[in-house]
Amino acid sequence: MNEEYENRLAEIRDALPLYEDARRLEHTMGVYRECVWFSKKFGLSEEDSYTVCAAALLHDITKNLSEADAIAICHRHKITPPSASAVMHQYTGAPFAKEIFGEHIVTEAICSAISCHTTGKIGMSMTDKMLFVADFTEVGRKYRSCRDIREYLHGECEKINRNEKTALSRLLNDTVKRIIGFTVTYLIEKGKKIDPDMILAWNAMVSEN
Ligand SMILES: [Fe+2]
Ligand SMILES: [Fe+2]
Repeated sequence: MNEEYENRLAEIRDALPLYEDARRLEHTMGVYRECVWFSKKFGLSEEDSYTVCAAALLHDITKNLSEADAIAICHRHKITPPSASAVMHQYTGAPFAKEIFGEHIVTEAICSAISCHTTGKIGMSMTDKMLFVADFTEVGRKYRSCRDIREYLHGECEKINRNEKTALSRLLNDTVKRIIGFTVTYLIEKGKKIDPDMILAWNAMVSEN
């Protein structure tokens, strides 16, 4: 990655402790490392590597905010607050990050990835999908399902050459579907609400392959 991108990532990394406690930072750095892995294994361009790595660093930046602060961000940016508070931070993250770091650092591609990292959405880009997956497969996630899907992703990836773009993209799609499938099943078993964007993301992913 070029020096400009490296400097931007360093600027974000240095500021993160102001917004995240130690536990969240550990998770964030786990997601970041998983995205570095994606960059290498999928042979991403410098721009895509920057997008996915910056999105990883920024994705949970509003998760420690109080509900009042989160609602204030929604008002400032004319966002309708979601009904489930667990997904609130995916909508507030990008506008908040832009306020802090500016639009030259927090590009539209980064905003897109942050804004669907919990639920997915219709028409996810490759970097959207990578952040969505990395948030689930980072090594700090100890749940069995996270471990299983991480092993599947990393194991299958080893069998594919970096130049086989179609096979890599199919593996990424399969992993996204496994995560959505697991999450929806889990939410149903627990009697919890499913965000409509997740259902829309599932339907879109099923028609992609
Ligand atoms: Fe999150
Ligand atoms: Fe996260």
